[in-house]
This record gives sequence, C-alpha cells and structure tokens, in this order.
Amino acid sequence: MELKTALQRGSKLLEEAGVSPARLTAEVLLCHALGKDKPYLYAHSDEELSQPAWIHYGRYLHERMEGKPTQYITSRQEFYGRDFFVSSAVLIPRPETEHLVETALRLVPKAECAIDIGCGSGAIGISYHLESGAPTHLCDLSAEALDVARYNATKLTAPVTLHCADFGSALRARSVDLILCNPPYVPLGDGAVLQREVREHEPALALYGGESGVEPYRQVVGQALWALRPHGWILFELGYQGLDAVREMLSWPAWENLEVVDDLAGWPRVIAARKTP
Ligand SMILES: C[S@@+](CC[C@H](N)C(=O)[O-])C[C@H]1O[C@@H](n2cnc3c(N)ncnc32)[C@H](O)[C@@H]1O
Repeated sequence: MELKTALQRGSKLLEEAGVSPARLTAEVLLCHALGKDKPYLYAHSDEELSQPAWIHYGRYLHERMEGKPTQYITSRQEFYGRDFFVSSAVLIPRPETEHLVETALRLVPKAECAIDIGCGSGAIGISYHLESGAPTHLCDLSAEALDVARYNATKLTAPVTLHCADFGSALRARSVDLILCNPPYVPLGDGAVLQREVREHEPALALYGGESGVEPYRQVVGQALWALRPHGWILFELGYQGLDAVREMLSWPAWENLEVVDDLAGWPRVIAARKTP
C-alpha cells in the first residue's frame, strides 16, 4: 500500500471513530510508524509502506480509536518550542500552560532561585530555566513523574535540581524568589465532565485537586509565605472555576500586585502575586 493510501484509510478510520482532527492525527501516527517527518510523508507519498511500518501504524490507529491520546502513543509533546518526552505517568503539557512560563519570564526575567511545584514532565520548570538561566528546582510527589522530568532535563541539557516532595513540604527549609505551580485542579466529583481521553488515560494524581479543586493551591500558598523572599512572586495556572478562591488566598496585606492573565480563549489562566516585604 502506498503512503498516501495509508494516510487516507487511517484518516477515514479515525473520522468514523469520532477522533478529531482525523487527518492530522493520521499524519502524526503514520510519521511515527515510519520514523519520518511530515515533509517526508508528502514528498514520498507514492512510496510503498513496509510491513513493519504497516503493523505499527495499525496498532497506533487502534490505540487512538480506543481513546489513548496521540501524545502517549508518540511519547512526545511540544512545549515552549521544545520537544518533551511524555508517558502515562505525567500530564500532557497543554499549550495554555505556556502562558504561565511567559508571565513568569515577564515578571521575573531571571530569578535567583525558582521552583516548579508539581512539575510532571518538567515542562514549566525546564522551559523557565532554559529561557532565563535561573537556578531552578523541580518537585513532584510522583517518583514516576520525576523520572520523566529527569529524562527531559537531560535530553534538553537543563541542569535543574529534582526533588520528591508533596505540596505541603516542597517549600520547607527553602528560600526562593519565584514559585511556579500548575496544580491538579479538577474537583473530585467532576471527573465526568472530563474528556474520555483525559479521564481514562492521564494520571489521577495530576488531575484531581480534592473535593473543591483548590486544596492544592491552599497548601502551596500556606508554605509560600515562609519560603518566598520579600518581593518574591508566586504564579499559578488556574482551573476552570478556581479564580475567586485563589484570588482570595493571594489578597492584601500578605500579597500585592495581583495579576490575572487570560488565555487565547479569554479564560483566566494564570494568577500571579508578589509577597509584600
Ligand atoms: C496538573 S499536573 C501539572 C504537571 C506539569 N507541571 C504541567 O504543567 O504539565 C499536577 C502535578 O502535580 C503533581 N502532584 C499531585 N499531587 C501532588 C502533591 N500532593 N504534592 C506534589 N505534587 C503533586 C502530579 O503528580 C502532577 O505531576
């Protein structure tokens, strides 16, 4: 079978299974099966698909139709212009999370010491470190997630420091001037509103933030007052209903310069505040 036919058939199967965007997904999976990039696919569309590549492609299509996210099939996701390795031990970094890195770089172009709490794949902390050159710590409760972050740090030549710690202890005995955190923020009872791909494949530890969805914020803010140096900044990614509660946690007189940044869809996505001296 020629590559162009394989692409057409794959797109059709995905479309029938309700996967969107079908064509783009088929392209990514076929490229992954071939070990080639998209320009190759189109420049060699008359080439015959080898039997091993056909077997791999078939398996990938099947996995995707069963709901497995494309990124867990290809083991990669681009974030802030770099290629991150991902496995089912970590949340797939979202494009909206780039606003957190962008805001951090604007408010604190080069921290003396930064920390990414709940680092998952390391996308936030590694990107901030590589863009700013600031000494950066990454921590997560999941040892498997830390393995992924460590792999990405090595692959991207980012000499960050990794720790296994939970939200309540990550900042203990630490002095930092920038805290970055994208905590799990889905309320426990809201699993049903998540897409099937997310609910069934992404780690529960990365998704659910207790009964209210804001408990992890409270834990980090409680620690932050002790760990942040005067004028230090704290930045969180926001969930779909956390704004009011988190704004309340970051109110004056302990905090100043509160700022909320919307994402491209107009949703409040990042909240930032500076510790009063
Ligand atoms: C929403 S994910 C964010 C991952 C990554 N920072 C990103 O933006 O793609 C939340 C992360 O927090 C970690 N986590 C969950 N509960 C935690 C806790 N109690 N202490 C520390 N980390 C925790 C999860 O393992 C997960 O990696």
